Amino acid sequence: MVILKLPEEIEKLRTSNLIVAEILEELRERIRPGVTTRELDSLSEGLSRKSRVRPAFKGYRGYPFALCTSVNGEVVHGMPSDRPLVAGDILSLDFGVDYRGYFGDAAITVPVGAVSAEARKLMKATEEGLYNAIRQAQAGNRLGDVSAAVQERVEADGFSVVRDFVGHGIGRSLHEEPQIPNYGVRGRGIELRPGMVLAIEPMVNEGSYRVKILPDGWTVVTEDGKLSAHFEHSVAITENGPDILSLLR
Ligand code: MF3
Ligand code: CO
Repeated sequence: MVILKLPEEIEKLRTSNLIVAEILEELRERIRPGVTTRELDSLSEGLSRKSRVRPAFKGYRGYPFALCTSVNGEVVHGMPSDRPLVAGDILSLDFGVDYRGYFGDAAITVPVGAVSAEARKLMKATEEGLYNAIRQAQAGNRLGDVSAAVQERVEADGFSVVRDFVGHGIGRSLHEEPQIPNYGVRGRGIELRPGMVLAIEPMVNEGSYRVKILPDGWTVVTEDGKLSAHFEHSVAITENGPDILSLLR
């Protein structure tokens, strides 16, 4: 069952999501060679305390950190560590908060110093895939329109969409129905309605879409060791079109 939100609930979700966006922005500004992902995780905890929000991932199914930090061939759920970032890395930051029972969730992939042209192309395709998907998040469209928009954009550049992890509805829980694959067929799936709030989060691989989970039980990596990128926004479907709740204006 997809839970529809009233306009006042959407405003509460906007508050949570804007805090996520602000914290991600502060983290982005700190990223440079030599910084460790553990430092970024600590910073995200401090900023959460300052904003009086609870980091939503910490303790979620036993996840031990506030922030997910996925480097290069890590796809999602990468765990912060003491390995310093080096120039040429790409780093995905995924962060969520709970503010007064309403959840926010967003992700960005950021270059560390100068990165390869291929890495830049992968990040651009993934982010544009997300924005094309958001453009399809319209009342009367179907979920397959959103999914296909990601897939078409990234496959046009020869990249592949991860199958094993998907986006999700978001609200008074971090994960609600529906599941939102980043691949699909236009015209298929549930009809989108005003009041739905969707966390759309393409995970896109440079090579094969195949992934595996490391023995730590969390870190998802590409099977072929090639790069992966991840962008996420939480988006409300309204009578006036998509409303990106996690976008700083
Ligand atoms: N954005 C990811 C998701 O929606 C992050 C979850 S990380 C976890 O699944 F640690 F909370 F699992
Ligand atoms: Co999410």
